[in-house]
Amino acid sequence: MTALTLSTSSAATLRADAVVVGLAKGDNGPVLAPGAEAVDAAFDGKLADVLETLGASGAEGEVTKVPAAGGLKAPVVLVTGLGDAPAKGEGYDHEALRRAAGAASRALTGSKKGAFALPVEDAAAVAAVAEGALLGAYSFTAYRNNGDAKKGAADKSAPLAEVAVLGAKPRDKAHKAAAERAQALAAEVNRARDLINTPSNDLTPKSFAAQAQAAGKEHGLKVEVLDEKALKKGGYGGLMGVGQGSENPPRLVKISHTHTKAKKHLALVGKGITYDSGGISLKPAGHNETMKCDMSGAAAVFAAVVTAARLDLPVNVTGWLALAENMPSGSATRPGDVLTMYSGKTVEVLNTDAEGRLVLADAITRASEERPDAIVDVATLTGAMVVALGNRTFGIMANDDAYRTAIHEIAEEVGEESWPMPMPAELRKTLDSPVADLKNIGERMGGGLLAGVFLKEFVGEGIAWAHLDIAGPAFHEGAPYGYTPKGGTGSAVRTLVRLAERTAAGDLL
Ligand code: BES
Ligand code: MN
Ligand code: ZN
Repeated sequence: MTALTLSTSSAATLRADAVVVGLAKGDNGPVLAPGAEAVDAAFDGKLADVLETLGASGAEGEVTKVPAAGGLKAPVVLVTGLGDAPAKGEGYDHEALRRAAGAASRALTGSKKGAFALPVEDAAAVAAVAEGALLGAYSFTAYRNNGDAKKGAADKSAPLAEVAVLGAKPRDKAHKAAAERAQALAAEVNRARDLINTPSNDLTPKSFAAQAQAAGKEHGLKVEVLDEKALKKGGYGGLMGVGQGSENPPRLVKISHTHTKAKKHLALVGKGITYDSGGISLKPAGHNETMKCDMSGAAAVFAAVVTAARLDLPVNVTGWLALAENMPSGSATRPGDVLTMYSGKTVEVLNTDAEGRLVLADAITRASEERPDAIVDVATLTGAMVVALGNRTFGIMANDDAYRTAIHEIAEEVGEESWPMPMPAELRKTLDSPVADLKNIGERMGGGLLAGVFLKEFVGEGIAWAHLDIAGPAFHEGAPYGYTPKGGTGSAVRTLVRLAERTAAGDLL
């Protein structure tokens, strides 16, 4: 875990492997961002000119390393692009700060300490720089022999070990709180990333549940696990139906953060398919290589609930992790089989690859029994949502327009891209089955919306509900950018944590 300190030291005198400064695109060439003054002075006030000569523009994602000039303690100046300079009198956009800090951290992989001298005019900017720097300091090395396994030798793939945010005030209450929040949040986003990146031969419903139990113990959360026997006895036909083809049986995990001053109860439900082969409706090669990521919703929910506990938020947050492995075998659910769900509704399974909605339905029904003020589910649910919104944006559906709008705004505020999606009423009839109450597939067009329409059937009467389809942003296959690594991203964790904070504050619901 990368250490975080706030420091009032000068960027010129702090001992570090690199001092990080910001460069923005100005009207007449690149301009240094506030925070870089002491470093610029060591270059006789000519650092922006030097950078322009080197071809730097200040574009987002651009990272330039310059040998430090005399008078600087750090041997290297790392210049990170902030994009367009803000209008006069305005501060830097927080997401631009987060991404620039993240790109700098990635460029410092293998180093010990980075001193971040970026513009931090207030606590929110301190939070953005700290978050970006810590989220960028991530690498998944558990399966590499030259990684953690080989202790002693300097590990060139290890994340940046220490982040110092300069210009922030360690004695200021708001700055301190921002730093503490950033540290807990980043640690939990990185927990979600680790879970997502862990291959399915090691992350099974059982081992996932065990990790929830361990984290619960460490952070004071109550954890209850239903194993396959309990699920069968309890009538969880959705979870059992999806999991019955696998050697690794399903689990339903309830992980609860409670607070004596809580006035609201938020339930979070995560899709936790530890591997999605498609089942008997087997996915073709080319569609299954990344399907270890199909538990990203459950990972996000898990991480968010633990963060709520670490931050001691005055709200009750219950996480429900619907864990199963979707495999084909002689015991697997067949297309045409009818499942009796936990709610009592029957579902004709016509495509075993539409499994996420089945496990979620049981967990949503179970969550509804506790009459929370709201239920938010998170899932890598449909390829259709990826077609609609691309690889970086999650879709939001809800049974309440105001709630959907609020979540969209919260996501925007924390720097996660999302978009509100409709649930057209006419889609419902395409789920009618000739033999059961519902079938698990229907109209192909608008497949992401239809999945939402299916889930809505299982939400308890009068409970606000939203559905986040993170199939696009959950797993990043391209080159890393900003604070986003390759592989598991931890998508939705930051949105869920802010949602819990806003629910605690009582200005939602
Ligand atoms: N886990 C997949 C959805 C998915 C696709 C996640 C791409 C991440 C990236 C889901 O279980 C699935 O297979 N959905 C089907 C539904 C269809 C059979 C109605 C899909 O989207 O094709
Ligand atoms: Mn599937
Ligand atoms: Zn799936």
